[in-house]
Amino acid sequence: MENQVKAIRIEENGGPEVLKLVSVQVPPPEKNEVTIRQKAVGLNFIDIYYRSGLYKHPLPHGLGFEASGVVEAVGAGVRHLKVGDRVAYGQSPLGAYAEARNVPADRVVKIPGGVDFDQAAALMLKGLTVQYLFRQTYRLQGGETILFHAAAGGVGLIACQWAKALGVKLIGTASTAEKAALAKAHGAWEVIDYSREDVVERVKELTNGKKVPVVYDGVGKDTWLASLDCLEPRGLMVSFGNASGPVEGVNLGILAAKGSLFVTRPTLGTHVPTLEKMQAASDELFGLVAKKKIGITIGQRFALEDAGAAQEALQSRKTTGATILTLD
Ligand SMILES: NC(=O)c1ccc[n+]([C@@H]2O[C@H](COP(=O)([O-])OP(=O)(O)OC[C@H]3O[C@@H](n4cnc5c(N)ncnc54)[C@H](OP(=O)(O)O)[C@@H]3O)[C@@H](O)[C@H]2O)c1
Repeated sequence: MENQVKAIRIEENGGPEVLKLVSVQVPPPEKNEVTIRQKAVGLNFIDIYYRSGLYKHPLPHGLGFEASGVVEAVGAGVRHLKVGDRVAYGQSPLGAYAEARNVPADRVVKIPGGVDFDQAAALMLKGLTVQYLFRQTYRLQGGETILFHAAAGGVGLIACQWAKALGVKLIGTASTAEKAALAKAHGAWEVIDYSREDVVERVKELTNGKKVPVVYDGVGKDTWLASLDCLEPRGLMVSFGNASGPVEGVNLGILAAKGSLFVTRPTLGTHVPTLEKMQAASDELFGLVAKKKIGITIGQRFALEDAGAAQEALQSRKTTGATILTLD
């Protein structure tokens, strides 16, 4: 059966202009795969790293790791999904920017009732990221004060809500007063507008000089040093992204000089390597959504063919919350 669909491909690395809308054939699913007719695609900063070439993958290739849709066909060996199921994923092989595609079934979970396709596409990668950052990388117990950069972003607005649900005081950072207000409205305890305030001084002030046990930093290069300076002795620096560029050329001695610090550079993939772990993390995430502790704020919607403009908005800091591509 012919299954010709539209998808985004890149043949070279570069700016948003390298994204091309092409027509591709979706073959029947192989063993342990499902074919998903997609309804919405989640946009993430990692898509920009693969487009630009900061993260390498043999060309040509598709883009995107996160989407939702309906199972259209099921390959041999798949037990937990059937045709017609409403599903989502946030950690697939590259290629989510497409009307339909095949995905390894162990990356795919059912969407609970009450969560629509747009919300699921916006929630999976970003929500599972906050799950592992807060519940695995540094297991927050409640009562801690933490620093979280880019608090008004896609991952950030989920983090603000999750921290509040855990009884954690999240100090966020943001580049404008509007973004700061948005993060606060989503549960951040305090938000530092770093266009006006010094982050390290403000963190010291807010913690009575104690500073914080953990910093979550998805901004990278620009915030690396300030983040280390916000940590209490033996604190943990979680460097989980490169929105401003990668952190390079670090002399480990800096961790000694700034107080026997720990540093980790985690990825989602290593935290949800099996269907069981993916399902457990998704259950925790969707459990909080069901209890209305986490809502998903979709700040921007674009059509598939406008994926380049969507990425441009994300990389130029014009977005807040999640950004999705919607499909008919
Ligand atoms: N390791 C993992 O497992 C994992 C998983 C998911 C996401 N991430 C990382 O988490 C971070 C957030 O991802 P996201 O998709 O939710 O993006 P996002 O936070 O919605 O967008 C990035 C934000 O970073 C801030 N930023 C600071 N300096 C910037 C610069 N020079 N250029 C662009 N943005 C800058 C901006 O917020 P302000 O304007 O407020 O500064 C911007 O809105 C990214 O670094 C991403 O790679 C990592």
